[in-house]
Order: sequence, then structure tokens, then C-alpha cells
Amino acid sequence: MSLLFSPLTIRSVTIPNRLWVSPMCMYSAGSDGVVQSWHSTHLSQFADGGAGLIVAEATAVVPEGRITPRDAGLWTDEQADAWTPVIRSVHERGGLIGVQLAHAGRKASTWWPWSDAQGSVPDGDGGWRTVAPSAIAFEGLAEPRAMDAADIRTLVEAFRTATVRALRAGFDMIEIHGAHGYLLHEFLSPLSNQRTDDYGGSLENRARLLLQIVRAVRETVGDGIPVFVRISATDHAEGGFTTDEATIVSTWAREHGADLIDVSSGGLVAHQRIDVHPGYQVPLATAVRQGGAVPVSAVGLITDASQAEQILADGSADAIFLGREWLRDPHFGLRAAHRLGADVRWPAQYLRAVWR
Ligand SMILES: Cc1cc2nc3c(=O)[nH]c(=O)nc-3n(C[C@H](O)[C@H](O)[C@H](O)COP(=O)(O)O)c2cc1C
Repeated sequence: MSLLFSPLTIRSVTIPNRLWVSPMCMYSAGSDGVVQSWHSTHLSQFADGGAGLIVAEATAVVPEGRITPRDAGLWTDEQADAWTPVIRSVHERGGLIGVQLAHAGRKASTWWPWSDAQGSVPDGDGGWRTVAPSAIAFEGLAEPRAMDAADIRTLVEAFRTATVRALRAGFDMIEIHGAHGYLLHEFLSPLSNQRTDDYGGSLENRARLLLQIVRAVRETVGDGIPVFVRISATDHAEGGFTTDEATIVSTWAREHGADLIDVSSGGLVAHQRIDVHPGYQVPLATAVRQGGAVPVSAVGLITDASQAEQILADGSADAIFLGREWLRDPHFGLRAAHRLGADVRWPAQYLRAVWR
């Protein structure tokens, strides 16, 4: 009996297996943050390919929260309406799909990866002034403006209204992006947060914004919908957010309404030092799972069915997110099930190709 292909029920949603698609920005929305046919094709293929859950890319809750001018958004009704056929397409294939709600903070307003330019997009070229907990730039990017108390209140409401739109569009769950050096992570880390008000200093203060957003999202979705939080469980840099702190914050996030912590790492500073190897972030997930007594997912250089199965068998995580392996093989779930001798739902149209 494969653990990877065993179901996981979170609140009123039963996820058919624990092999999930990690949120991945496609930088392919219109300049108005509206998703395109690309998103439909891209996300639907994973439902056909055996993914238990697909979490759609970092989707900005306000325009200035986009990483690039081509990011998807959920700050207008038009954006929400454009998500609906994408979600329907995934549902028609028997899949489940959530969205990662995000604000890129001081790492917003940058060029998309394959554009000719790099770094911050100037105002005249479609860029904007970024915001952050403190006016400290990410190395190589423009200096952000420090958010004031009114900005913070507005942001919590933006997460709330984006959640309303996400539900109306039809998403099955919500993930809050608290990782990779984006705004909520910037509040968590002392390297980017040097505030002296209620949102800076102690861990309780640095976590306050994230927890207010978790609570706002939970209040908005009600009891039935799963809410995940993605965190960076270390900055991989001296003086940064630590795994012990991440564990405590994860417990608090659970108390505020989160169901699962999606444990990633890094992204806060350019001078981070990461020892990248297969499954390199799994020990972080395990630390949060054990120390924080919360369900967790593991992600990061997990590329093989047996590797993923072993992580679950070891009790290191409750579910597995894969990113790039799904890009290499959108039918990875079908192959993984075959490899592990597990059942997975094949598209009826493809049944003649089932391995027997
Ligand atoms: C093209 C691409 C876009 C990504 N965009 C996001 C994103 O929107 N949100 C996020 O939390 N992580 C993002 N990531 C990180 C992945 O979700 C994942 O955590 C990372 O790639 C490590 O997993 P992997 O080794 O299985 O790819 C992105 C990664 C890639 C390759």
C-alpha cells in the first residue's frame, strides 16, 4: 500500500493522493494580471497526470505585490472570472486546485526571468515603487518604502478580498505565501524587518502580520476549506529567521486557522548559502512537523517516486510537493503510481496506455 497514493482529508476536502504540484509562477498573465489560455493548458495537464492537488502560482493580492508585471492577480473581479475556466478545466479532469495568495514585497517589480533585462523594472517601463517592512533593499534591487500602519491594515483586507474572489472563482483551497523572501517572509526575518512598532522586534511581533492574514483567510473561507501556509524555515544566512522560530510560528499559524505548513527555505537575501542536494529541505519539514506538531509538506529536489514514498514512510512529512519534475513530465503522477504499484486515476481517453 503506497503512502504517496493514499488519500489525505483536510477539513471537507479529500485529496486523493499526496503527490502535489508546487506553486510555480508562469509570468504569463496579461499586464492586467488576468490569466490566459496558457494557464489552463499548463495546470490541466497535471490533473491528467495524476497530481492529487495542484497549487496555482503566486497570485498577487494587490498590483504592487506582483513579482513581475506579468504575474497573475486576484485584486479585480475580471481576474477572478478569468480563473474560473482554468479551475473548471482542472475539475473536469477530476483534479483539485488551490491558489497561492502572495505579495512580493521588496522583491516585486522585477523583470520576468526570460526578459532581456534583469533586476528592478523602472517606473516608466511598467514598474512601481515597492513596499516592505523596512526601507532595506534586497541586494541589487530598488529600495522599498517602509509600510505604515495603514498600509498593513489595507494589506490584510486585500488578502481577505482576494480570498473571497478565489472562492468565487472556484478554488478548492488557499495557500498563503509566507516564504522565499517575499513580503510576509520579510516581516518574519530580522534581516529585512527592523521595525520598532508592533510588527517588528520580537518573534511575536514579526509574526503578527502573517498570523493576522491567516486568521482573515480562515474567517473568510469558513470551516470547510483547507488553508496552507508556505514558509521558509531558514534564511540560510547569519542573523536570519531560524528553523526554531519557523517551528514556533507554524504552531501559531495552526492556532490561527492554518491546516498544513508547506516547508521551503531561503530567498530572503542574495548572500544566502544553501547546500542544495536531493531532498535538501526535508529535514526542515521534519523539524517543523515534530517541533510544531503540525502537518507539513516537503518540497525541493524531490524527483523520484521512491524518494517521495520514503519521505512519507520515514514520517518526515505528510505530503510531497514537486515543482520542476512536473514541468519535465506533466504525467509524472501516472509514472510514479506505476513505479509504486499503486492505483491512480487515468484519463479515460488514455486508458489504452495503462501499464499492465
Ligand atoms: C518556474 C518556477 C516558478 C516558481 N514559482 C513559485 C511560486 O509562485 N511560489 C512558490 O512558493 N514557489 C515557486 N517556485 C518554487 C517551487 O514551488 C518549488 O518550491 C521549488 O522549485 C523546489 O521544488 P523542485 O525542486 O521540486 O522544483 C517556483 C519554481 C519554479 C521552477
